[in-house]
Formats: sequence, C-alpha cells, structure tokens
Amino acid sequence: MTNKKQIIGLVFGGESSEHEVSIKSAETIYAALSHSCNIERFIVNPIYIDKNGFWEDSEYSKSILLGEKKSTKTIKRDRITINNLTNFPKESNEVDVWFPALHGPNGEDGVIQGLFKLTGKPFVGSGTLGSSLGMDKIAMKSIFKSFNLPQAPYIYLHKENLLNTLFMNSIFDEIEKIINYPCFIKPANLGSSIGITKAYSKQELITGIEIAVKYDERIIIEKNIIGRELECGVLGKSIMKSSVVGEVKFQTDWYTYDSKYNEHLSTTIIPADLKINISNKIQKLAIEACKAINAYGLARVDFFYQESTEKIYINEVNTLPGFTNTSMYPMLWEASGLKPEKLVASLIETARE
Ligand SMILES: Nc1ncnc2c1ncn2[C@@H]1O[C@H](COP(=O)(O)OP(=O)(O)O)[C@@H](O)[C@H]1O
Ligand SMILES: [Mg+2]
Repeated sequence: MTNKKQIIGLVFGGESSEHEVSIKSAETIYAALSHSCNIERFIVNPIYIDKNGFWEDSEYSKSILLGEKKSTKTIKRDRITINNLTNFPKESNEVDVWFPALHGPNGEDGVIQGLFKLTGKPFVGSGTLGSSLGMDKIAMKSIFKSFNLPQAPYIYLHKENLLNTLFMNSIFDEIEKIINYPCFIKPANLGSSIGITKAYSKQELITGIEIAVKYDERIIIEKNIIGRELECGVLGKSIMKSSVVGEVKFQTDWYTYDSKYNEHLSTTIIPADLKINISNKIQKLAIEACKAINAYGLARVDFFYQESTEKIYINEVNTLPGFTNTSMYPMLWEASGLKPEKLVASLIETARE
C-alpha cells in the first residue's frame, strides 16, 4: 500500500424526498473522515447533487455541508444526459473511492451504484443488485421467501389488478384468510414510511391501496406483526460483521414518517434489552438477510420481535441507512466499539476489497 492520500468523493443531496436527511448524513461522514486520525489518509471531495439532479463542484458542495449555503431548489438546468455525463465537476475525475450519502430513489436503489461502477472506481456499500433488491419490497421479500428467512406473510398487487373486480375479490378473500386486519399497505419502492397505511378494515384497506398506487404501480400488503422493532448494523464484505442490536420506540401507532423525523415522538435504545440468544439470532439473521439479496459493505437490517412467541421476523434491509449523528447505524457501531471515524475508514477499506 502506498502512503498517498485517498480522495473520497462524498456524494450527497439528490432528488429524493430524503434530500435534507442526506445532507445531515453527509455532515456526519465528512466530520468523521476529517477527524485527526484520518487526516493523513483521506482528502474529502464533497459533491452535492441539488434537488434538480445537478452535480455541484466541491467548493459549492462544501458550503452546503458547512451550512454556509442553504439547499434550495436551484434554477432548472439541463438535466444530466448521456452527452453531458462527463460534465460532472472536474473533481469527480480525481476520486479514488465514492462514498454515497444518499437515501431513497436514485441514491439507494442501484442507479448511482451503476454510474459509480462505470467510473471504474470502488464505492462504499452494496452494488447495483443488492441496492435495487433492498429498495424493492416485493423483490426483497420473494428472495427472503426462497431462502426460508422469517418474515410477515404478504401478498402483492399491480395497479392494473385493481381494474379486475373478480381478481380483487379473490385478493380480499385471501387477505381475510391469511393476513387479516389490521394490515400494512406499502408502495414497493419507497422509504421513510411514505405512502404506507395501516388498515383496520376493508374500507381502510381500499383507501390504503389507493394511496399506495399513487407512489408505485406495484404494492405489497402485509400481515401486522405485533412486536418490538429492532435494528442491527452490518459491515464488511468478505467478512461481514453485525453490530449490537438496537430498538426503536415511538409514540405513534406505528413507526410513521412523523415519528421517524420528530425526536419527541421516537427514541432509540442501544443496546436493546434482549436475551442473549435472541440478540445472537438477530445478528446472525441480519447477515443472512444481506447475503440473500447480495447486500454488503454497509446495511441496516430491521426486525420485528414478538416476545410472547420469541419469534423474529425480518422487516427489511436498508442498504444506505441514515448516517446522521442521531442515526441508528453509526450509533449501533459506536456501541459496538467502532467510533464514527473508525467506522468510515472501515467502510472505505471494505469498498476497496
Ligand atoms: N408487517 C408489519 N407489521 C407491523 N408493523 C409494520 C409492518 N410493516 C411495516 N410496519 C410499520 O411500518 C413502518 C415502516 O415500514 P417499512 O416496511 O419499514 O417501510 P420503510 O421502508 O418506509 O421504512 C415499520 O417501521 C413499522 O412500524
Ligand atoms: Mg423501515
């Protein structure tokens, strides 16, 4: 290994509804990469993608990160097309390792991972396959099913099915038989609880379906699992490790958009108060879930744990989980003995594997 400093392309912002969270995640990652123990190893090139998808140069990006400029929706410029793909800020050419601090569509779903791959430079987190599978609840769950991983019973629908009354009646029957009420209706591809409804009756189910199809043509309906919500961090590629297990508690009926982003409505408990055999099982399942969908590098795997039966259900794999200073992923690793500055360095090492 040479002693040359590695240039880290920290990409953040983006067109998704999680733009502001992404900036906060990037702030934490930037601070960790700039920590005195990393100063000899890394040079950070922040690259801000504005709400119109335009890639800004390092200087502008840095001012967003340092809070000197506000992230506004800038003037609509030419979108990035195949012809101006190389018009990315010149700093992009110098990047040794990409570090996406993006969430949601285009950032977490394999799209930008494909672009990174085309640059020939390594990047932090999962590749295109794991990222897109982690983003799509139907694809993810059907893979979990084929791996016999424990999860809530579900069915899925396409928007066009709604026009077929006969088919829909059979779906309602099936829901009453295997899923029952309350149930969860979700758009297949989204996050932050957006577009999700918890339905207590057939009428609410119908409304929930109408809401979900506004976000995605493909939707999933799941059985309500009564249980605690637990989360586990995963780090590494050839050798994957899991963090201690954390728990989220919220004051809403379920973990809604409001409770996720309002610190008065939710709290995190790290480590979760669990019997050792349960937390061991969760740590093992977290890695199995990642391997099933080919997610690696960094991921947070979310679970439901039903205490009365000691049953554990995998809810989902998040391939680019929140990385703010109050986010579960960095806090889980800190509680596992890896401070943020060490964590980011490990993530970069993993990317270069
Ligand atoms: N099958 C389920 N049983 C119980 N609660 C659920 C179920 N599915 C989702 N929820 C609730 O909805 C929240 C968001 O659902 P999730 O599938 O994690 O969507 P997102 O990707 O938007 O985070 C969960 O954290 C949980 O509170
Ligand atoms: Mg979730």
